[in-house]
Amino acid sequence: MADLSLEFCGVKFKHPVIIASLETTNSPEVLRECVDAGAAGMIVKTLTDIEDMARLTENSKYAILNEKNELIKGKVNKNFVFYSRSGYSSTAFKEWVPHLIESRKYAEDHNARLIGSAGGKTVQSWIDICRTIEDCGLPMVELNFGCPHPAMMPGVHGGSMIGQDPEMAREVTARVCEAVKIPVVIKLTPDQSRVLDVARAVKEAGAAGVTATNRYTGFSVDIETGMPRLGGPAGIGGVWAKPLSLRWVHRIYTELGMPVTGSNGIYDHKDVVEFIMTGAPLVQVGSILMLKGIKYLPTIIKGLEEFMDSHGYPDVASMTGIASRNSVKDYGEQFKKPRMHSEVATATCKNPSCTICIQTCFYDALAQGPDGVNTIHANCIGCEMCTQTCPFDSTGMFTTTEERRAEQPFFQIPPDVFEKGKFEKGFDRGIKLSKVKG
Ligand SMILES: Cc1cc2nc3c(=O)[nH]c(=O)nc-3n(C[C@H](O)[C@H](O)[C@H](O)COP(=O)(O)O)c2cc1C
Ligand code: SF4
Ligand code: SF4
Repeated sequence: MADLSLEFCGVKFKHPVIIASLETTNSPEVLRECVDAGAAGMIVKTLTDIEDMARLTENSKYAILNEKNELIKGKVNKNFVFYSRSGYSSTAFKEWVPHLIESRKYAEDHNARLIGSAGGKTVQSWIDICRTIEDCGLPMVELNFGCPHPAMMPGVHGGSMIGQDPEMAREVTARVCEAVKIPVVIKLTPDQSRVLDVARAVKEAGAAGVTATNRYTGFSVDIETGMPRLGGPAGIGGVWAKPLSLRWVHRIYTELGMPVTGSNGIYDHKDVVEFIMTGAPLVQVGSILMLKGIKYLPTIIKGLEEFMDSHGYPDVASMTGIASRNSVKDYGEQFKKPRMHSEVATATCKNPSCTICIQTCFYDALAQGPDGVNTIHANCIGCEMCTQTCPFDSTGMFTTTEERRAEQPFFQIPPDVFEKGKFEKGFDRGIKLSKVKG
């Protein structure tokens, strides 16, 4: 059986699945439920001294939407969209002290880790909250530089407002890292383009790792009433956000090489595997436990264990980052791969009653012939679109031979375009890298 245990920033976890900071970690009672459900760790709902962020949680609003942008009634499928507004913990951080100690002990007794989360009003508050977390014996703290809501709260500064500013993120991280000994992990916001700059800044400031990422800010409309859902902007997430989160996990893993924990877009164990393969060995599960209940957690953990066993991964390290390491560094590498072209299998093709591939090939590379669909090899660029739009699995991709390439003007870039000093000249002469019809 696969060994699911791992170490992240010096803290040991029995497996890669922990609970993200949100409503499912907002009281000692629910923390206990998470431990009982088998979580490897829980990140407490963000502790704060910002009154309005605490009050916001007491006024939380939720809209769970389906693929038709309708409110879900009942079963939540993988294509859910969670539109919601909630703040930080409504229990003042000092009042959390006995609960943190008790919950940390309960977690440790079950080989689980209780992790802190902070969101302060001033730099001194960030320090005070993190010191309190450390004094309660918690082995790690996450700084919430990712919450989308402070930006919409008048007079409040925090969350993504810090996470969008590399210098401010650096300052708060450095001050907290000076004040505590436990590893500090920064939760990043995806609501920006400078995620990597922020991650680099907090790494230089002493952060042990980062979380990629918190959620986006959205705006959702009920077209029947013409009203915005939940009265206006709110946080938004769902499995649709996963590739966007993975993009940052990938870049942080490959370009910064710093420990990264994954968040934003988990529904099942397959999503957990994607995060691990991209480079985040520790993965946080959030919304789906709010929508399905904490009892759903073992399904994810069991699924991960079975996946590793059936695919021959002996441990978490053997999966971590494999997809990122297999990734091209830039699009230029694609040009080194062999050319492909499409062919239609006449035995299964339903033409002429079906013409979908012809309609969806935007390169004029498939045409109606008297005996079926013909590939116009000179035009086919090997994009693979038709292999997916054909409902009858009747198109396939084949490596283009050198002889065939020679017949395909589109694949031949005039050599003088790339001769030294002639690049612009080539374009001046109107040489275009567009297809030449055969
Ligand atoms: C209702 C709600 C409340 C949240 N509260 C917090 C919070 O207090 N602190 C925090 O760091 N993240 C908070 N988050 C973000 C989650 O921890 C998590 O990063 C995010 O939901 C993405 O993961 P998921 O797709 O598994 O939900 C909250 C998310 C939701 C939906
Ligand atoms: S691979 Fe792309 S270009 Fe070629 S036939 Fe199919 S859709 Fe057209
Ligand atoms: S989409 Fe498939 S079945 Fe339809 S014409 Fe093209 S190859 Fe034939």
